[in-house]
This record gives sequence, C-alpha cells and structure tokens, in this order.
Amino acid sequence: MISKVCVMGWPIAHSRSPLIHNFWIHQLGIKDAVYERLPVAPKDLADTLRHLRDWGFVGANVTVPHKEAVYASLMRHDALAHRLKAVNTIVMSDHGLEGRNTDGYGFMANLADRAPGWRAGAGPAVMLGAGGAARAVAAALHDAGAPELRIVNRTAARAETLISDLSLTRARFFQWDDMATALDGANLLVNTTNLGMAGERDLDIDLAPLPSTALVTDIVYTPLETGLLKAARARNLATVDGLGMLLHQAVPGFEAWFGKRPKVTSELRKLVLADMGITEDKA
Ligand code: ATR
Repeated sequence: MISKVCVMGWPIAHSRSPLIHNFWIHQLGIKDAVYERLPVAPKDLADTLRHLRDWGFVGANVTVPHKEAVYASLMRHDALAHRLKAVNTIVMSDHGLEGRNTDGYGFMANLADRAPGWRAGAGPAVMLGAGGAARAVAAALHDAGAPELRIVNRTAARAETLISDLSLTRARFFQWDDMATALDGANLLVNTTNLGMAGERDLDIDLAPLPSTALVTDIVYTPLETGLLKAARARNLATVDGLGMLLHQAVPGFEAWFGKRPKVTSELRKLVLADMGITEDKA
C-alpha cells in the first residue's frame, strides 16, 4: 500500500509543499510514499476530510483558504492549533484526524537557522499585520519570551482581537502612524502583511528608528528579497527571508507521518529556489 499525504487548498497548483516533501521522501528512503496536491473547493472540504483515510491518505497539509475551516471541522487538535483556531497539518491517530499547527514553529526555526545569534528575549518585537499568518507568528514570539510585542496594523480592531484571542499579555497595538515609536529600541521587525508580495505595493517604512542590532524578517518569500529586506540590508541590518519558514514548518508534519525527522538543508533551499526561477550564490 502506498502511503499518501496531500496538501489541500484552493487554488493549490502553485504549492511547493510536494517538492519539499517528495525530496525528503526520496532522500530518507521512505518506501512507497508520495505527497501530492489535492485541489479542494470550499464546498468539498467537509467531504474530503470525511474520506481522507479511505482515499489512502496518512496525513495532510492545509493551506489557504482552509486553515480555519479545517480547525472547525475536526474534533481533535493539539494545543497550539486549538489556541490559534487554525490547522496547517493533519495527522491520523487511532481516534481519527488530529489538527496541528506548525507555522509558528517554522517561523522561529527559520530565525534560529539563519540568525543563530538572535534571541527573542533580548528586546521588543514589532509585528506588521494582524491577519491569519500573524496569529502563529505572534503566539510564537510571545511564547519564545519576547518582553513586548508591538503589533502595527491598519485595522485596530483586528489587532485588538488577535491580542485578546491569544491572551497575549505583553502585546499592544500601534497605529501605522506611530511606526517610529513602535520601531524605537526594537529587537525584531517582522512583516506578516501582504505588502511587498509580487503584485502588491511595497511597504514604505522609515527604518531609521530601529537599533543597529535589530533583525528584520518577512514572511513573504515571493520575491525572496522584499522591499523591506532590501531597505534593511541597505542600512546594514541583519535580515532573514521568508522561504525558510515554509521549509521548516514542513518538518514536524513529515516526522509525524513517516517517523523520520527531515533536515532543512541548503540543497533543499536551492531546489525550491530553482523552482521559483532563482539562483542564489549564498543559499
Ligand atoms: P494572511 O492570512 O496572509 O495573513 P489576511 O488574513 O488577509 O492574510 O491578512 C492580511 C494582513 O495584511 C492584515 O494585517 C491586513 O491589514 P488589515 O487587518 O488592516 O486588513 C494587511 N494588509 C493587507 N493589505 C494592506 C494594505 N494595503 N495596507 C496595510 N495593510 C494591509
């Protein structure tokens, strides 16, 4: 029997998860396993979850627009998925499907990998955005011991809801116009908004108030070097691009499905970059 895992989303044609997981399946010599794309329209989601096991799937990833709907449909979750009310990874247990969330893990593991000297506890973190992706990042930074989380968002209510939903006791909301105050003394600046993504306008922020020790990162990875990262690099600030978050969030799911913990290597990074049409000297 082939062990199948899928990524479900709508649309799903451009997902790079199959490239990542099939690379590890091959590299680690997992026999009779394959990872595929599963296009699932919102109206078909409940039916898909009901039949997942019958169709031969031993697990799944969940992406846009299904993360919250899968959370609501499943009976069992790990603590983090429960807290975020969003699922990106499904694991089969004897009791049925269990929803997990590895996005925050992926975010922190990427920073640990690419900026090993950086410490969450060393100073305030500034997060731009309060959407779906921001929730996992906010919880991860808070749990990692950021002494203060400053959330800058266009819509105040969304940031306030995020703070109360996740019980972030050390977080507070900043207006976009108060950016300079938010950046003052910060240890990290992370963009979780769509701004800077290919096809969207760039973030236009004056980074001057950031200390020279601050790390700047973006969860957007198309383009790999967003306008924000370019501006940070021009100021000699340390930067980490968002591709590693995608690579690292895949690790716990793979380990749960196949029993072997895969590694995020420069070879894997190059493979995904090549698929994006990018060659990087220093991957
Ligand atoms: P995702 O799931 O990718 O996080 P989302 O939930 O739609 O997507 O969230 C998008 C984030 O980008 C939000 O923080 C949004 O701000 P609002 O909460 O004010 O909508 C932010 N965003 C998107 N377009 C923006 C723009 N033109 N200017 C400022 N913020 C923007």
